[in-house]
Amino acid sequence: MSPEELINKAFEAQKYAYAPYSHFAVGAALLTAEGEVHTGCNIENASYGLTVCAERVAILKAVSCGQRSFKSMAVIADTEEFCSPCGACRQVLSEFGGDIKVYLANRRGEYRTMTVGELLPGAFSLSKSNNQEDA
Ligand code: THU
Repeated sequence: MSPEELINKAFEAQKYAYAPYSHFAVGAALLTAEGEVHTGCNIENASYGLTVCAERVAILKAVSCGQRSFKSMAVIADTEEFCSPCGACRQVLSEFGGDIKVYLANRRGEYRTMTVGELLPGAFSLSKSNNQEDA
């Protein structure tokens, strides 16, 4: 699947964003090693801190379907700038590998590619925290 196709899946998911507080709708699409796509949109809550970003919705959906191996993710929002995953989503993505490609896209579907490792250098992981020499 091409980056453009994955970005289109993210645009489709953005339609379902539940964002009555920020009015900022985000869409994400996650491609598994097996070629499946799991999508996500942001889901807000009246208790603002319970909001879940589109990226994490996509990851949690995929993992809860038994998927743990991911190739790439597309993230889009209705902005001129490329939509950049928040720190929490970067950490959750990094749990599944620093090599996952992330397509950060804008409202026109233009995008920039970064790896999860580039988005979150020095990510926390249990193996690192257990080995001081790796710190
Ligand atoms: N949001 C995402 O879904 N993904 C991001 O990468 C950045 C922020 C959501 C959270 C909230 O619903 C809204 O965008 C404004 O922060």
